[in-house]
Amino acid sequence: MKLLEGKKILVTGGSRGIGAGIVEACAEHGAQVAFTYSNNRDLSEKILKNLPGNGHMVTEMKMESNESVQSAIDEVLEKFKNLDGVVNNAGITKDQLVLRMSTEDFDKVYEVNLRGGFLCSKYCLKAMLKARAGSFVHITSVVAQTGNAGQTNYSATKAGLEAFSKSLAHEIASRGIRSNCVAPGFIQTDMTDKLTEEQKTALATQIPQGTIGSPKDVANAVIFLLSDLSKYITGQTINVNGGLYM
Ligand SMILES: NC(=O)c1ccc[n+]([C@@H]2O[C@H](COP(=O)([O-])OP(=O)(O)OC[C@H]3O[C@@H](n4cnc5c(N)ncnc54)[C@H](O)[C@@H]3O)[C@@H](O)[C@H]2O)c1
Repeated sequence: MKLLEGKKILVTGGSRGIGAGIVEACAEHGAQVAFTYSNNRDLSEKILKNLPGNGHMVTEMKMESNESVQSAIDEVLEKFKNLDGVVNNAGITKDQLVLRMSTEDFDKVYEVNLRGGFLCSKYCLKAMLKARAGSFVHITSVVAQTGNAGQTNYSATKAGLEAFSKSLAHEIASRGIRSNCVAPGFIQTDMTDKLTEEQKTALATQIPQGTIGSPKDVANAVIFLLSDLSKYITGQTINVNGGLYM
């Protein structure tokens, strides 16, 4: 069953990992997809070429730049005219213990993950308000709820994004627009490839289901929240973590 037939969806950071999994799943479910990358144009073009369906597009968006976020969304709206769904997926880590963390690394993670999510939501909202319909999905993290040593900057931005999503949900519910989060646990991507094999094995033993997740596992929850199946769900977080945090 195709759950997003006729819908127009924007996914930030769709060039690899979880974002690429979401882009592919949206297209498989019949959506017209726009996705963004920060520096890997060639990889993005390759993904674009292989997507099922027609009318998809890719463009550059630097989450830390007001101008870049605004101009990428203008470009998407010029082609798509409106948006039915926005997935705030782009995110970075710059892990360090708090005593050793530079203010630059704290600020950078904040600028991309939280401030960038705010900018993207703000600029897309105008078009969605006109249509009086739509769904925002913000990709947060299990560490927003559990905390994690070495990730004070990252976990604070993800917890901030969850609070942002709830406040946004309050603001836009009466206009027919929803805002929810998907909080992945440990998912196999470039972000987690930074971990050593030993660290990955140790992590897997903490997960009740016993394995690290895949981008597809996260994408399935996102598709549900973008689709009309979830039309009475807003201000919530779906945890996709194999039971790591219950
Ligand atoms: N992999 C995991 O285990 C995991 C767990 C929990 C949450 N997450 C979250 O899922 C999302 C995707 O993570 P991933 O594992 O696929 O990471 P990834 O590093 O593989 O991909 C990150 C994406 O964000 C984009 N991006 C990076 N910096 C950017 C910037 N400055 N401006 C615009 N785009 C930028 C990249 O182009 C890329 O497409 C992130 O928000 C991440 O925090 C990942």
